[in-house]
Amino acid sequence: MKIGLLGFGVVGRGVYDILAPREDIRVGTILCRRDLGEVSAKTTRDMADIVNDPEIDAVVEVMGGLHPAYEYVEAALKAGKHVVTSNKHLLCHYYKELNDLAKANGVTLRGTASVGGGIPWLTNLEKAARVDHITKVSGIMNGTTNYIMDNMHKRSVDFAEVLKKAQELGYAEADPSADIDGWDIQRKLIISAGVAFGVCLQEEDVPVFGIRNVQAADIQRFQQRGLTCKLIASAERLEDSVAAYVEPTLLSSEALESAVPMNFNLISMEGEYIGKESFFGQGAGRYPTAYNVVEDLVDINRGVKGFYTDSFEPAETNNAGALHRYYVRSSAKLPEVDAIAQEDWDGAVVTLPVSVAHMHTLLQKLLQEDESSFIAALAD
Ligand code: HSE
Repeated sequence: MKIGLLGFGVVGRGVYDILAPREDIRVGTILCRRDLGEVSAKTTRDMADIVNDPEIDAVVEVMGGLHPAYEYVEAALKAGKHVVTSNKHLLCHYYKELNDLAKANGVTLRGTASVGGGIPWLTNLEKAARVDHITKVSGIMNGTTNYIMDNMHKRSVDFAEVLKKAQELGYAEADPSADIDGWDIQRKLIISAGVAFGVCLQEEDVPVFGIRNVQAADIQRFQQRGLTCKLIASAERLEDSVAAYVEPTLLSSEALESAVPMNFNLISMEGEYIGKESFFGQGAGRYPTAYNVVEDLVDINRGVKGFYTDSFEPAETNNAGALHRYYVRSSAKLPEVDAIAQEDWDGAVVTLPVSVAHMHTLLQKLLQEDESSFIAALAD
């Protein structure tokens, strides 16, 4: 099988390196705006050179971003080429359209590397959903924020400094606000919920709060109480909707998630037969992510067809029934927060159980008065 490689950044270079010694899958042409120096493949800046090359069987899209990635993938599928992508933004946004297009053109679209980096999460979720009724997907799905939180819990480090290190290690997105403000993990949650429940959730319906505002003093308060803070994504199937949200969460030190180090992810599914099953591994970085891209290529080369689900029912997000107690640290004085404050944590409060929907509405008000406000849910 010969591939066209779109992008030669962190992941693209990783794919190229892993494929270099293989005979069965070879890189034919690389599309990249930079001069790549010595590479054992043709290089081009024109997507038409790949789309119109009859020798190219599959296209690997590892450029990231929505455009022109969407147009390139669309052109490749229409030209009858299989597509493998690691682009969660693309899959989250165009999950159904691209799958329909792949089907109409009799080719395969895979994106295992889009969630969990090197963890074979989506392929196992797909297999589980064939047999079991999956009720929940949740966990740590972003390597950059886990790397930052892990460092902030273990040593006294500056947020900006540790983010810079995560960028140098190739974990962070080109625009790291996608990581620290939670958009990357939200997209991974939406893709996972889609595969698990056969639904399409809308990005604007899934509330997100990231870790940009966490301070050393917050971490100290958590550690004094035996708690660890992680950025957690959660989607739970309800009767005719889905409770889905992303927020910093305080876990007991015994929880599996609390032990997740560095750029690792820990993602779990819950099903009626399997109970809870968790997947742990490197969630970001060149070779883990490239590994899953190559796994998809090998599957396609062996005749695996299709995407991960055939069902794309539109579903509403409903967070009115998901209740947590919340840690709230803000200099804003809101009577609505005073009304639910239950404990004083010396510079912060912990609330009575309130719904995720209510807390995220209050959070927007808090942020308007004090843009450094921080909240975290207390895990059950
Ligand atoms: N920026 C992402 C992360 C890369 O840190 O998890 C892997 O999707």
